[in-house]
Amino acid sequence: MNNYGVNELRRMYLEFFESKGHLAMKSFSLVPHNDNSLLLINSGMAPLKPYFTGQEIPPRKRVTTCQKCIRTGDIENVGKTARHGTFFEMLGNFSFGDYFKNEAIHWSWEFLTEVVGLDPDRLYPSVYLDDDEAFEIWNKEIGIAPERIFRFGKEDNFWEHGAGPCGPCSEIYYDRGEKYGCKKPGCTVGCDCDRYMEVWNNVFTQFENDGQGNYEELKQKNIDTGMGLERLAVVVQDVDSIFDVDTIKALLNRVATLANTEYKKDGDVDVSLRLITDHVRSCTFMISDGIMPSNEGRGYVLRRLLRRAARHGRLIGIEGKFLADLSTTVIELSKDGYPELEEKKAMILKVLTQEEDKFNKTIDQGLAILNDLEEDMVKKGIKVLSGEDAFKLYDTYGFPLDLTLEILEEKQFGVDEAGFKAAMQKQRETARNARKTTNYMGADVTVYQSIDPSLTTEFTGYDSLVCDTVITALTSESDLVEALTDGEAGTIVTEKTSFYGTMGGQQGDTGVIVCETGEFKVEDTIHLQGGKVGHVGRVVKGMLQTGDKVTCKVCEKNRQNTGMNHSATHLLQKALRTVLGNHVEQAGSFVDGDRLRFDFTHFSALTPEEILKVETLVNEKIKESLPVQTEIMTLEEAKSLAPWHYSAKNMVTVSA
Ligand code: ALA
Repeated sequence: MNNYGVNELRRMYLEFFESKGHLAMKSFSLVPHNDNSLLLINSGMAPLKPYFTGQEIPPRKRVTTCQKCIRTGDIENVGKTARHGTFFEMLGNFSFGDYFKNEAIHWSWEFLTEVVGLDPDRLYPSVYLDDDEAFEIWNKEIGIAPERIFRFGKEDNFWEHGAGPCGPCSEIYYDRGEKYGCKKPGCTVGCDCDRYMEVWNNVFTQFENDGQGNYEELKQKNIDTGMGLERLAVVVQDVDSIFDVDTIKALLNRVATLANTEYKKDGDVDVSLRLITDHVRSCTFMISDGIMPSNEGRGYVLRRLLRRAARHGRLIGIEGKFLADLSTTVIELSKDGYPELEEKKAMILKVLTQEEDKFNKTIDQGLAILNDLEEDMVKKGIKVLSGEDAFKLYDTYGFPLDLTLEILEEKQFGVDEAGFKAAMQKQRETARNARKTTNYMGADVTVYQSIDPSLTTEFTGYDSLVCDTVITALTSESDLVEALTDGEAGTIVTEKTSFYGTMGGQQGDTGVIVCETGEFKVEDTIHLQGGKVGHVGRVVKGMLQTGDKVTCKVCEKNRQNTGMNHSATHLLQKALRTVLGNHVEQAGSFVDGDRLRFDFTHFSALTPEEILKVETLVNEKIKESLPVQTEIMTLEEAKSLAPWHYSAKNMVTVSA
């Protein structure tokens, strides 16, 4: 067997399945698309769910990928053991209603034994309890003796992850030899020790779990396979753990060098070395997919990983900022399989540096305070830190709760988590009550005050509804950010725009902003201080980043409808003056693509007869289809025309 590297194994796998008629697709983003059941993509099949259920047509019935995945379920153990990690790559071959058990089993065997060259005598398949079909294929067709085929129950051999497609599976274990064994009597395939390592999982996806534990037979039978790339490398390279395979080891060694130490010299230091190595990988990949540190959802996972890594850096004596530096190594080592890392390098390093800077400013103070609190607890004989103190560490010093928990746990202390939640809730309510200025999406408008004041936006939308430009600033609902990713709401500021901003009672344009990597649906366009235009909406696909070349496309229908409704306000004003008298003045108006509202001055409510007259007059004028002319002039010029001729600043609609 050759000592293949991680990058080589990835290529070999994809090429092998291409030779079996599969379409090799790029890894999907770590951010799930249209899937609220997951925070982060955690398996090769997760982004392919719609193809399994038949909701979407796959580009081909056979697909193969190497998918970046993050699992945070075991986060507390990362570092403490050499088995756990949050980031990993999953190799997979998939059939959407095409081949089933037979081919899947044959090809997994062929790849492992013939392409990679694993010793067949060290491989042991397992099947689901009563899956005789899979058993027969292993036994009769592949030629594995019955006593080498294991039957396991639902816990081991039925794959499902939350709602979605699932099914029984057949795994392949590799015997790494006695030296990795627990030596307990009865140690065999399925034992928890490190000897028999599960490398491949063939899932026969034939059910759909509705999330409540009800299983429905899928219309089509599918194959979902998964093999952890790093685990395969452990077996192929015959090393102790995923932290010893070529690429990850290279990164770990860089961490050790920064800390002036070596791996496997000191157990406690090793915990930190492994944790930093794993977390920097996760953070680098998350940011490359547009996830930004925040206090919620994925952004919080990122912040937590990043701050844990930063703290462990201090524990082992790394001085100053180091995460961006390590991230360049991750990019170097993985760009072969993930070219987006190189493309997004500048952003990744910037976000890491900024967040680490932010944390570094308060971490020492926070640690000192925590230390005092600990001493106080010892004196008082208390074992649990109050929720309020934990919240203060979070709020003022940026310590995610888990970090405080982790630090205290090292000394067998706990935290009053319910008290922490209550303090958090109390602060949220206070903040909500104190917040006065909000934009229409309910977010605090002060976020716009962090945008570079020198930025401006040029409006080009009178002549054309489409415009090519560059993103100059991005905000989420609460922060200035470098990127926005799938499903996230926020605001985009561009150098130029064809979007008309809400002004003078006329609702701004809607439409889309697209770039090579993503699409943003503009739900409203607003004017921001300093001559900037903000496109408010959400990412509907992929991600968008500051500096991206984008195309702004205004929704023509909505612009047209708004324009027509705008003209109608002028007709309405004229009709009101004709019917009620010349004292009628415009007191305000609101116009969008669906409706208009016109406020005016008059002494009493209109009678039904007057309303009918006004309506008839306006409708007559509409039927005449008079030409509408748009002229651009200064407000003064506009004011010199009849008053109903001007509405919005710098824009005049002359009807008739
Ligand atoms: N989806 C299966 C797994 O994650 C292949 O193991």
